[in-house]
Amino acid sequence: MRILISGFGTVGQGFAEVMILRKDFFKERYGEEVTIVCAMDSSSYVSDQSGLSPNELLKRKLETGKVGTQGYQDPVKVMDSVEYDLLIEVSPTDIKTGGAGLKNIRHALESGKDVITVNKGPLALKFCELIAIARKNNCKFRFEGSVGGAMPIINLCRESLVGENIYSIRGILNGTCNFILSKMDNGQSFEQALKEAQQMGYAEADPANDIEGYDSACKVVILANSIFKRNVSFSDVSITGITSITSEAISLAASHNMVIRLIGEMSGDKLEVAPRLVPKGHPLSITGTLNAAQVVTDLAGPITISGKGAGRTETASAILSDLVSIMDDRKERGGKCQNL
Ligand code: HSE
Repeated sequence: MRILISGFGTVGQGFAEVMILRKDFFKERYGEEVTIVCAMDSSSYVSDQSGLSPNELLKRKLETGKVGTQGYQDPVKVMDSVEYDLLIEVSPTDIKTGGAGLKNIRHALESGKDVITVNKGPLALKFCELIAIARKNNCKFRFEGSVGGAMPIINLCRESLVGENIYSIRGILNGTCNFILSKMDNGQSFEQALKEAQQMGYAEADPANDIEGYDSACKVVILANSIFKRNVSFSDVSITGITSITSEAISLAASHNMVIRLIGEMSGDKLEVAPRLVPKGHPLSITGTLNAAQVVTDLAGPITISGKGAGRTETASAILSDLVSIMDDRKERGGKCQNL
């Protein structure tokens, strides 16, 4: 399995670390190594068909701020110069245009490569187009880490709950907002709490994406399309963020034994992100940067999961699970996968 990784920020570096930790796991399970044959960041790349050392990639990034040794103009040309089986696309999310990530994913799928991404921009804007390209070219396209980080909401619904009729999913899908609201529960100001979330590295490059609810809306779109088989985009979601939540509103909620949480909801035709009153003790009243999701199905009833919605190793754990799934599928079929 030869991997091309595009994006070497927090998540890309987390994935390189996981490759070091799981080196023996791959050898034992598949009798083959997983090698990174090319790594790109926004301004540089490095490639070697015999495999790059994840340790060296991490060291160079730390020391020089760049993963690669050479510059490039067009990422697609770099991709075409490398022989690889799987693209891991973890460049920064661009909610407005899909950014370089969209271009890279399209190109890899059109070239018949499998793709794993946690990049929310391409998924929120062009989900159905990308799935169609993947199907046409018989490629696997997986994106578990794009929603809820380490919390396996997509695989839970698509694999464990595959025979269920899923009526609704409601969840806390943004750790930054949950962190801010929980800090406000304890008397901290909105501004102070946001600053802390940024310092901890949870907030998006532009924190407006978190606090205005856009990041949660991307995740609602991804869940609606991948689980409810909808054909919706970012503009179909009704979005209210948390910027107008005052300390007074938090205190009033507390006096009724409630908390305010930013909830993403999909049920029937409803696609919504908005602050909601949640009774204290309810599974969606969780605090800190945790994400949580409550799935309601016809046979199983309500199922709630919770986990770390962001973070270097946590998000990389979701990429690992997608990678194992793709490799299992190849092993079963003795070669290239047949379905999504
Ligand atoms: N900014 C996001 C959050 C990161 O706070 O949840 C994970 O998508």
